[in-house]
Amino acid sequence: MKPQIWLAPLHGITSHTFRNTLCRHFGGIDFFMAPFLPAQPAGKFRPKVWQDIAPENNTALPLVPQLMGNRPEHFVDTTRMLNEHFGYERFNINIGCPSSPVVRHRRGCGLMPHPDSVEEIVAEVTKATPFHLSLKMRLGLHSADEGRQLLTRLNDYPLDFLVIHPRLGVDLYEGTPDLDTFEEFCQITRHKIVYSGDVFTTEDYERLSERFPQVAAWMLGRGMLRNPFLAEEIKGQDTGDKNGRFNAFYHDLIDKLLPIRGESGTLANLKELWHYFAHFTHTSDEKLQQLLRICDLQEFVKVSS
Ligand SMILES: Cc1cc2nc3c(=O)[nH]c(=O)nc-3n(C[C@H](O)[C@H](O)[C@H](O)COP(=O)(O)O)c2cc1C
Repeated sequence: MKPQIWLAPLHGITSHTFRNTLCRHFGGIDFFMAPFLPAQPAGKFRPKVWQDIAPENNTALPLVPQLMGNRPEHFVDTTRMLNEHFGYERFNINIGCPSSPVVRHRRGCGLMPHPDSVEEIVAEVTKATPFHLSLKMRLGLHSADEGRQLLTRLNDYPLDFLVIHPRLGVDLYEGTPDLDTFEEFCQITRHKIVYSGDVFTTEDYERLSERFPQVAAWMLGRGMLRNPFLAEEIKGQDTGDKNGRFNAFYHDLIDKLLPIRGESGTLANLKELWHYFAHFTHTSDEKLQQLLRICDLQEFVKVSS
């Protein structure tokens, strides 16, 4: 049976423009999770904030929106609003984002040391709405004990699935995923598990899927940016002329970004992407640094093509 492969949410990168372009040029992805959007009180909704998940911008694949916040009533209001306006019935809650401003405000991974708050959000949303909830988490912020406690408490709630990125928040993206603790978490939870973290090659996928046959889906993030053929390769598909296909994707992406982000926004976006594309294109560090110093979009496109 072919594995289920989901595209990870990467805030600032996997916008609907990127997701749709990726999907037009590469196969293998079954499902999208959108980058986090704010859970807000009713009355504060600004339509522009929700453009990324508007159904007309997301016709390629099924998508689950992700919300970040810390007040149960904001999650209730926002899930109701998104259901009413867009028809979504499934929502993911981000309790894994480790960025310091987010954590300081007790959002994202900042919630992991506070299992009461997470449980309150889950209890409130599952009681007040008919929607399907899932969480995307790390092992903890400071210690995996936070995750252990939380998983035990969440066992009695009707969750869709848990996405687990097996690192601590304080470790950001350093070191390697802690697979022994992930294995322990798989035994503690009764929920369906989606794995996320450092799947960069088919060998990574094979090693992990052999060790964790209970994982229901594999979420690929930076691996799809480093090698957009990764999902196809994992599924054993014929990738054909990789350079030709990558170039077609790259130029299509620029064409789609320009009207939305303008020249400077597109340039900023491309510079962020090239940290990852450099792997696929075997661009040396020196050439990458030269590329990142370019301030004109046309020049950047010429040099990077
Ligand atoms: C630039 C960047 C932005 C991210 N944005 C989000 C986000 O919006 N929501 C989320 O749950 N995780 C986010 N993550 C975490 C990824 O979804 C994923 O769990 C993590 O990168 C590990 O998987 P990977 O090694 O396949 O990238 C982000 C990661 C990066 C590097």
